[in-house]
Amino acid sequence: MKEQLLKLKTEALNQLKECNNNADIEKVRIHFLGKKGQLTAILRSMGSLSPEERPEIGKIANEVRTTIEEEIQSMKEEVHRKESVERIKSETLDITMPGRIPEIGRRHPLMKVKEELESVFMRMGYDVISGPEIETVQNNFDDLNTPYDHPSRDWSDTFYISDDLVLRTHTSPVEIRVMKEAVKAGKLPIRMVSTGRTFRFDDVDDTHSPMFHQMECLVVDKGVTMANLKDSIDQFVKELFGTSVKTRFRPHNFPFTEPSAEVDVSCHICMGKGCPACNGTGWSMELLGCGMTHPNVLRNCGIDPEIYSGYAFGMGIDRVAMVKYGIPNIRLLFENDVRFLKQF
Ligand code: DAH
Repeated sequence: MKEQLLKLKTEALNQLKECNNNADIEKVRIHFLGKKGQLTAILRSMGSLSPEERPEIGKIANEVRTTIEEEIQSMKEEVHRKESVERIKSETLDITMPGRIPEIGRRHPLMKVKEELESVFMRMGYDVISGPEIETVQNNFDDLNTPYDHPSRDWSDTFYISDDLVLRTHTSPVEIRVMKEAVKAGKLPIRMVSTGRTFRFDDVDDTHSPMFHQMECLVVDKGVTMANLKDSIDQFVKELFGTSVKTRFRPHNFPFTEPSAEVDVSCHICMGKGCPACNGTGWSMELLGCGMTHPNVLRNCGIDPEIYSGYAFGMGIDRVAMVKYGIPNIRLLFENDVRFLKQF
């Protein structure tokens, strides 16, 4: 039995020498030391030994087991060390390699203009309010003093969701909401702007889209006059386009303002001298519609026009973005072509 044990030891140590990974070492361990392993089998048969032989063979068996176990342990450490060396070799960093620059997103040109406009007005003390894109016919038309036969109410101009609901055709209904709430909360005067999406039944061309963006402005206070309106518009146009830009007011007609006007901005290319871009007029675009809030509109919201007056204007933001960034076609704003958007 003694020879058997020593042979087993040699065999085990030889087999271990051949191992070069943990799985192989484990196989050897199970083969010799496992529950059904060879050494265990020998130990089980020790019962057949005489009482004199037993201590001696027991001692040898223990030595064999310890030797194999120690060898297994040192082999495992060796494998671990080799693996670490390999790993470190394969993970070596070449710090001279050029880095990969992550792509950083940009603000959409429309959002840039919207945020710039809002911040100009916030600095002037206006509240920035948002309103829903689905509006009641009452807010979008009725309370804005729009006659029942006004063409803007036509099914061919407006997206109706039901007889009483539309996709808002302008941001002016936000004025109605704000005035009604201010009256309810006893919080007059009002100075607010509101930007957002608006919808009209338009065919797409270079300057039209069925979805576009507007900004609305409303001031209601005691003693507000057309002079205040002209002054605020002039001030904010200069903030937006620079101090050399001029504004021009032309009489116009809107149901919700009286008097009403349209405002043009001097051509930013020729600075008002006249060039092909402005057809030699010196004026490049209709920027906005404006006017003194109609007494009927104030009354519809519960405000006494004998005590309060107001001015308002509404402006296409897409137009502003196109002029500001020299964008020739409104489609470019909505196609989400990264090559276009990357330029801003
Ligand atoms: N809502 C008008 C439009 O979409 C623009 C407008 C004109 C708004 C005059 C106003 C205003 O607040 O006073 O064409």
